[in-house]
Amino acid sequence: MRIVIGADQGGYELKQYIVERLITQGHRVQDFGTHSTESVDYPDIAAPVARAVAAGEFERGILICGTGIGMSLAANKIDGARAAVCTNRYMARMSRQDNDANILCLGGRVLGLGLALDIVQTFLDGEFLGGRHARRVAKISELEEKE
Ligand code: RB5
Repeated sequence: MRIVIGADQGGYELKQYIVERLITQGHRVQDFGTHSTESVDYPDIAAPVARAVAAGEFERGILICGTGIGMSLAANKIDGARAAVCTNRYMARMSRQDNDANILCLGGRVLGLGLALDIVQTFLDGEFLGGRHARRVAKISELEEKE
């Protein structure tokens, strides 16, 4: 799977761990930074990742900050991005099945490495169910305000 990933300093360590594991699994991973623990502003990472996913350049995106919240708020400003903060596998599964989320947001200061990896795996494996959920996701798209 083509995956783009990004993090701020709060998610840097978890990003490094996830990138390594995804590459080992054979995924094609593009890392949009950050590349150290130096402080950066999470919207500066969330925006290019969300744009790349919304443009179809990647099948999935992963964004990591301290809580996952800031990244999700920023990513969801981009048309076509559906970013979901998930703190457990159930949320990750439902974010795919019901919401067709295309970006997973994680909290590097919230999750342990093992749980975070399980959540990533569940998100990547998850399939959108369509049907009535497609109607609801389409209604989300209709909320996007055009200039
Ligand atoms: C940065 O300190 C922190 O605010 C950020 O990583 C994230 O948690 C924001 O939602």
